[in-house]
Order: sequence, then C-alpha cells, then structure tokens
Amino acid sequence: MSVLRFELVDEQATEGLGKLIARALPSSSACFHVNLVGDLGAGKTTLVRGVLRALGYTGRVKSPTYPLLETYSLSDRSLNHFDLYRLETPAAFTEAGFDDYFSVPGVCFVEWPDCATGYLPLPDWVVTLTATDRGGRMVDIEARSPQGRCCLEQMA
Ligand SMILES: Nc1ncnc2c1ncn2[C@@H]1O[C@H](COP(=O)(O)OP(=O)(O)OP(=O)(O)O)[C@@H](O)[C@H]1O
Ligand SMILES: [Mg+2]
Repeated sequence: MSVLRFELVDEQATEGLGKLIARALPSSSACFHVNLVGDLGAGKTTLVRGVLRALGYTGRVKSPTYPLLETYSLSDRSLNHFDLYRLETPAAFTEAGFDDYFSVPGVCFVEWPDCATGYLPLPDWVVTLTATDRGGRMVDIEARSPQGRCCLEQMA
C-alpha cells in the first residue's frame, strides 16, 4: 500500500487529518520529509496546523511567507514548515542553507516544493490536496520511501 485517500468536508476535518499524521510520524530521532502539493488555498497550512496542535503546540500557526521557513521547537522534536512560493530561483533553496534541515532529526513540511525542483531532497511522502465540487478537499498521501511506506501503514 503506497497511497491513502481521504475526503475532508471542512477545515476541522483537515486539522483532524493532521492529528492522524502526527500519530503516524516516525520516532523523534528520524528525519521525515513531506511535500505538500495543491493550489493557493488548498489547505496545506491548515494540515500543518493540525499536526502542530497534535504535537502540543498551542501558539499561532501562520503561513511562512517570509522568511519562507517557520521552525517550531516541540517537546521531543523540531518541525520545519517551508513555503517556497516566493523562492526566487530553485538554486536559492541551497543558497539559503535550507538543504541542511533535511539531513538532521526533525520533520519537514514543504509547501510549493516545485519551486525548488532539482535542489529539494526526495520526500518520504507527497500529500496532494484538491478542492472538491462539494466545497471540501480530497487528499492523497503517497509514500515515496521505505520509511514513508512504514508510516503510511501506521495510518491505514
Ligand atoms: N477540508 C476543507 N474544506 C473546506 N475548506 C478548507 C478545508 N481545509 C482547509 N480549508 C480552508 O482553506 C483555506 C485555505 O487554507 P490554507 O491557508 O491552509 O491553504 P494553503 O494551501 O496553505 O494556501 P497557500 O498556498 O496560499 O499557502 C482556509 O480558509 C481553510 O479554512
Ligand atoms: Mg499555506
């Protein structure tokens, strides 16, 4: 099994899926990388907010428009939330030192991964969010690594 699909009727359901994802994450010593794919307003930041709530973060979760990265220090791990929409060129990803975050323990969620094609490491999951004609969202979680498949099995 390498893809799971969810239909989310409203914002609360998207945060709820974030909670399920938080429970399926590997141990805090692992490096886990999720690409979030979807149009403007698809619900990518909402999903990250759900993960952060489940991991005990109670503060504000906003879109990291500048400086493109928000890092949250949680009780047992760091969560790095990237939004690369305003990255000037794909190479700017490496110039900013962002690649360093993908080889140390922590969880990385990346909005607009295509803006760093060729520089962003390969993800464990690709999560794709699409608006439905009923006003909700369809979400596919696709595993792209052995670690990603293992975590997806935790959710099934
Ligand atoms: N399942 C859902 N059904 C309907 N609306 C939703 C759902 N999930 C989130 N939303 C709404 O979608 C809107 C945009 O959400 P969000 O900011 O998370 O999008 P985004 O994908 O991060 O956008 P951007 O690319 O601009 O950063 C919010 O108003 C949120 O309430
Ligand atoms: Mg966003």
